[in-house]
Amino acid sequence: MDRLATFVFLPFAGLALWYIYSTFAYRIRRHGAKEVPGPKGTHFSNNGIGNTVISSLSRYSASIKSCSILRKLRTIYTWRQHRKLLHTVLSAPATVRYEPSIELETLYTLDDLLTSPEKFSDHLERYAFGIVFRVGLGRRVHDLNDYVVQESIIGMDEIHKAFRPDLFACNIWPLLLHAPDWLVPSNKTLRKYLARLEGSIYLVQSDLKARIKDGSAPESLQKWFLEHIHEFDLTEEHGAWVFQSLVGAGTRSPYNAMMQYVINMMEHPDWQRKVQEEVDRVVGKDRLPNLKDLPNLPTVRAVIKEGIRYRSIVAEIGVPHKLDKDDFYKGYFIPKGTILHANYSAILSDRELYPDGPVYNPARWLDPSYPTYKEPLMSYPSLQGFTSFGYGRRACPAANFTERTLTVMVARLAWAFNIRKAVDPETKMEVPLDINYEPTTNPKPLAFPAVFEVRDQEKTGIIRVEAARESARDSLRTEID
Ligand code: HEM
Repeated sequence: MDRLATFVFLPFAGLALWYIYSTFAYRIRRHGAKEVPGPKGTHFSNNGIGNTVISSLSRYSASIKSCSILRKLRTIYTWRQHRKLLHTVLSAPATVRYEPSIELETLYTLDDLLTSPEKFSDHLERYAFGIVFRVGLGRRVHDLNDYVVQESIIGMDEIHKAFRPDLFACNIWPLLLHAPDWLVPSNKTLRKYLARLEGSIYLVQSDLKARIKDGSAPESLQKWFLEHIHEFDLTEEHGAWVFQSLVGAGTRSPYNAMMQYVINMMEHPDWQRKVQEEVDRVVGKDRLPNLKDLPNLPTVRAVIKEGIRYRSIVAEIGVPHKLDKDDFYKGYFIPKGTILHANYSAILSDRELYPDGPVYNPARWLDPSYPTYKEPLMSYPSLQGFTSFGYGRRACPAANFTERTLTVMVARLAWAFNIRKAVDPETKMEVPLDINYEPTTNPKPLAFPAVFEVRDQEKTGIIRVEAARESARDSLRTEID
């Protein structure tokens, strides 16, 4: 009996001591700072939703879970190398090299829209993949049926699903991630998701390596990385994951931004007219807008920036970040390990900066009477340093790249098409917009109708001729088989 009492008593005594120690340590670190508002008691610091799912879907999660300081340092070091690689390939000077690819892919998109305007959503999604696959992986994407694109779309859809607390209980109780499959069957589903994602990543990489070997691989960022791997202290496997992050992060958000543009132009025809007037004035009728026009298209940049602000669907409550040391904010103590969500929706409608926050109003970037206005208009409005792209060391490395890809696409859309709401053939009335979104993080809008109407037959001719010519040249440049 004595032994049983000792057996029961010791763990409780240990827990009590640990509790007393952590409470005192916490108080000392707080130094009398204000308590953060919210539930008191248990500190949920290490249990962020993103943390759980990301660790279950990341190949490198083992090192994150490990308590060994050495392994943790190695993780941070590797992460820094990842960032170095991302910055090297997405820096502003590097982005200039991708300009021909951006112009080519926008041209194909206009051509696709002429052929089947009702499939505008597919064409804009193809554009998002076309750019990243061409620049990052040296692959031409003809349409969304491309096998690798399909695998990527399914893989990314599954990852976004994995964030849902209603489908994966481990998002609420992280410990369940370690429970047996018979108890928590959704763990098996997570492993299936990871296996598929890995499969698509290694498929791309092994295909590229084979093409490098036989000399048929066109220039691409991943090829460049494999040739300069010694400069990064990363393995080929790390590199494959970094390029996966480009595909994962670099296709859905720009696609969403373009779909938002379509929605905004239908809802605000006055702004569509202003954009078209600007593009017509700067570019004229006889040639397509190009990246050199960018400084002269502030209204185009303003509608894009305002669209991203107005519906910051990338991260309405922010991508969670974890504090790696204790911090103080406005007198509040935020302990190390806390998962923080920057509330983007609130920040992007802060009344001081955005007096008419909930309203779609690109004028706030163009008119000196608004607090967000900045000069010169040759450079502003710009997406650089914009809240919607995150903050701190994990901020999106592709704001510059995105600015170029979206500006030239939107300028070309405005040059070539009127976008308007569909009309009911029976009532002859406009079909009211009813936009819904997927129930996931960074959701895509669900299908909605829109009409893409050619503005001018001469422009159709220009697009068709240029697309045919460039496509013929492109085949010589990038086709593999
Ligand atoms: C409208 C377009 C885009 C928006 C609004 C956007 C926004 C964001 C946001 C909010 C984050 C998280 C930042 C944080 O954790 O604080 C992020 C991360 C990231 N974005 Fe973007 N992004 C866009 C386009 C792109 C494109 C085109 C690429 C690549 C070609 C890209 C690559 C990445 C990568 C690799 C990360 C992860 C960085 C890291 O983990 O350190 N993004 N983006």
